[in-house]
Amino acid sequence: MVHPLDPFSFGDGRPTLRNRTVVAAMTNKQSHADGVLSDEEIRWLLRRAEGGFGIVTTAAAHVDEGGQGWEGEMGVWGDHQLPRLTELADGLRSRGAVSLVQIFHGGLRAPRAVTGQQPVSASDVNDQGAEEPARALTESEVEEVVVAFVEAAVRCEQAGFDGVELHGAHGYLVAQFLGTKTNRRTDAWGGDLSGRAAFLKAIVDGVRAATSPEFLLAVRLSPQIDAMGIRLAESLELATWLPAWGVDLLHISCWDAFQGAPDEPDDPRTLTRRFRTALPEGYPLLSTGAIWDGAEATYVLGEGADLVGVARVAIGHPAWPEGLAKADYAPARPPFSPEALAAADLSPVFIEYMRRWKGFVTDGRSAD
Ligand SMILES: Cc1cc2nc3c(=O)[nH]c(=O)nc-3n(C[C@H](O)[C@H](O)[C@H](O)COP(=O)(O)O)c2cc1C
Repeated sequence: MVHPLDPFSFGDGRPTLRNRTVVAAMTNKQSHADGVLSDEEIRWLLRRAEGGFGIVTTAAAHVDEGGQGWEGEMGVWGDHQLPRLTELADGLRSRGAVSLVQIFHGGLRAPRAVTGQQPVSASDVNDQGAEEPARALTESEVEEVVVAFVEAAVRCEQAGFDGVELHGAHGYLVAQFLGTKTNRRTDAWGGDLSGRAAFLKAIVDGVRAATSPEFLLAVRLSPQIDAMGIRLAESLELATWLPAWGVDLLHISCWDAFQGAPDEPDDPRTLTRRFRTALPEGYPLLSTGAIWDGAEATYVLGEGADLVGVARVAIGHPAWPEGLAKADYAPARPPFSPEALAAADLSPVFIEYMRRWKGFVTDGRSAD
């Protein structure tokens, strides 16, 4: 049986992880207005590396000024961001963690109030709850955004990170291209699954060509987003293409890794099991969603994940991997007091953000 603290290697000169635990990307609103990392954001991530995580992923970081989704978001679109990115990458490495930057573009979820521009997407979109309709990117603009992703990945390698995670989940621009409802294009960037995945593939191809073979390239996907027309069957098919594209790791964002497919109540298999079965044997799979204690982490590995990702438990418990040494590790669950979160190296800005998450902070939004 695989244990969360067993090491893991990507092979072929790529990094080896000291264990199978991953801090999943977490937005924390602590960056400066020009996308430069703050002391607080660096500190929050270094603390998780000190706590023993195998991989530490940054917050979603926009690759283009027009792709910024919210204030305080980290950016990887300009060389002025390099010095502090380098400081973070060095710090994570010296603390024994493998580092990934999550690179993204908000698309229709990059509001004018933040970017000063009308939001863009795969197609004209007016039904996804955004404040303003998004307009379809022209073909040449799609190519420009691909270049922005590639340049951002190159910048991350230059800064010393071990790799990037392309954020194809949670309804941002890559997911908007994947979904049948948000992508109704009739050119080469739309149509069947292969057309709707062409944007993702172009980014993957560009990053692979412009970075070294050792540089890790992960892709994060949401298995299903009904409102956008992202269906599980297609996500499973897309997953099978990633190994041949040169993607090193698939990260599935399950939200609840213990549930099966939402539309298939008679099929008891978890999403992790479904993806494991679809992927070639041994292809690296990371699964995240509602994992809190040691037994849950071990269960998800038993379902076929190679790595387990956590977000919320890593906020309250920066040294979560150390706890996993005990078989019955059951770290305290939320709500956490603001003092406890401050002691875990969350700044007042981040604590304020977490007050919006149901039941997370004692004086924040209540659990129901
Ligand atoms: C505060 C917070 C910020 C998040 N920001 C991101 C993000 O920037 N990118 C992303 O892909 N997921 C983000 N997520 C989702 C997490 O990566 C994770 O998939 C989700 O929280 C479920 O895992 P958990 O149950 O361990 O918290 C965020 C989650 C939290 C709690």
